[in-house]
Amino acid sequence: MKRVLLIVGGGIAAYKSCELVRLLRKRGHAVRCVLTEGASHFVTPMTLAALSEDRVYTSLWDLKDEHEMGHIQLSREADLVVVAPATADLLARMAGGQAGDLATTVLLATDKPVLAAPAMNVRMWLHPATRRNVESLRTDGVRVMEPDEGAMACGEWGPGRLPEPPAIADAIEAMLNPTGRPLAGRHALVTAGPTHEPIDPVRYLANRSSGRQGFAIAGALAALGARVTLVAGPVALATPAGVDRVDVETAREMAVAAQAAMPADIAVMVAAVADWRVEERAQKTKKGETAPDLRLIENPDILASIAQSPTRPRLVIGFAAETERVVEHAVAKRVRKGADWIVANDVSGDVMGGEANAIHLVTDTGVEDWPRLPKQAVAARLADRIAAALGD
Ligand code: C5P
Repeated sequence: MKRVLLIVGGGIAAYKSCELVRLLRKRGHAVRCVLTEGASHFVTPMTLAALSEDRVYTSLWDLKDEHEMGHIQLSREADLVVVAPATADLLARMAGGQAGDLATTVLLATDKPVLAAPAMNVRMWLHPATRRNVESLRTDGVRVMEPDEGAMACGEWGPGRLPEPPAIADAIEAMLNPTGRPLAGRHALVTAGPTHEPIDPVRYLANRSSGRQGFAIAGALAALGARVTLVAGPVALATPAGVDRVDVETAREMAVAAQAAMPADIAVMVAAVADWRVEERAQKTKKGETAPDLRLIENPDILASIAQSPTRPRLVIGFAAETERVVEHAVAKRVRKGADWIVANDVSGDVMGGEANAIHLVTDTGVEDWPRLPKQAVAARLADRIAAALGD
């Protein structure tokens, strides 16, 4: 049995914290709850006390609490501190090291790992101030989950929904049992999906990449205990459990996000990055005008620049999608890009967007031909190989 200290922030998603407590209790963990002043307007201490079968803490100024259980003790007797929902305000106060109430005092005083599951309006989540706060918290070692995307209580749509309680429970489980898994303590960067390169404000160039293989790899690395940053092009896929996702659209945005994710121990560049972008037009090209002449400019090569950067990850893996002389091209690509391994596949069939993949793994010692496998199985096998390589 592990002990979780759950700090409930004051947002409408606070009602989901009740479900989270229930799930954690069902999994055999002890849960003790701290409510912010705001949270107590959304859920009552009574509800959480009944579900957690423990008393609920709300105030720094309750002398009896300080006598029976001081805030320092409260912050340290748990194995993990979880903030759910982590509102924009709570994240800002955490990032600023404030300690004006019981929740923030506990967070500042704790010597235990901290997980935050954000929930807020989409504009608040995307606001530069929140971006900055999340980045500093991550730098400080707090694991900040990516919120879900979808319809929000405020009527708007976008990223900002609290991750579903089972996903938070999985992330908690992963943090409670970090050792024993071969990639514990490692950071992996994965790029996935296509990029969209605008032609004008309405149109774009794209490719058929579904992002499935990259997402599966991100999930498989997380399942082995790695902290995973997944930089995803425009795809309609759910974020795998335990993965921090950054959504981008263009190759240049992907390059910036990949660089921002450094340092990493492992980089797996699965994205089908557009090699060229179009010299952009400010206005939509009208039908009837003479057919536009698309001038193409080369995009940055993300794989090559990460492989050649001073903060090069220990293991850099690229993908090669070819329609002919697959292995021969992959062997040359490994050297040209400075990658350790190239995962090569023949995309002349239905690989792009399909469910299965037959790959050749090109390393410095040779070429392995893998049988045709579902993309999830390719991912699991590759993650095992990565763990073995880093374990040597
Ligand atoms: O050169 P090519 O596009 O065939 O190389 C494919 C590999 O390089 C993939 O791993 C892909 O993610 C990566 N790549 C990249 N940035 C680019 C082009 C490709 O990271 N601009």
